[in-house]
Amino acid sequence: MNRDDAFKILTTFLTNENLIRHCLAAEVAMRALYARLNPEFKKEEEDVWGITGLLHDADYELSKGHPELHGLLLFDRVPNQIPENIAHAIKAHNYSYTKVIPETPMDWAITCADQLTGLIVACALIHPEKKLTPLTPEFVIKRLNQNGFAKGADRTPIKQCEEKLGIPLEEFVTIVLTAMKSISPDLGL
Ligand SMILES: [Fe+2]
Repeated sequence: MNRDDAFKILTTFLTNENLIRHCLAAEVAMRALYARLNPEFKKEEEDVWGITGLLHDADYELSKGHPELHGLLLFDRVPNQIPENIAHAIKAHNYSYTKVIPETPMDWAITCADQLTGLIVACALIHPEKKLTPLTPEFVIKRLNQNGFAKGADRTPIKQCEEKLGIPLEEFVTIVLTAMKSISPDLGL
């Protein structure tokens, strides 16, 4: 599976522009986390991580109203097209419902980064410019520690970056924020 195939699948099942942008944010975050965690960088492997981010919420509209099915439905619709390691990470990123437990660094990377990309978008939207450019990691962490802010963003998996990926929280936020800034026009921010 290449990136173009994955993007076609994504846009077949997802129509909401903001959700597609969220998936693009997760893709670029995953690519950056791959590079951070794998000094012996391999382009094919980076693509695997990127595609995992891109497709992790592809069934979001299909599973609307059924959170227990989120992460599972894509594989009914496109059987045998998605490699098993990518499928496992996608199922595991919703493990509190799917009961597919994250195991590999890639599984944990999408689980930890997913909620952070949403929190970062919420941070951008409260800036007068509504842009990613002025955001600093410190600003994002300050908001992360305010539980009343962006309540939909679950802080628990974000903070698990330290235990599960071995990346300190501030560095984790910096990596994901920098990655998102690199595609800010695609994110509309
Ligand atoms: Fe997501």
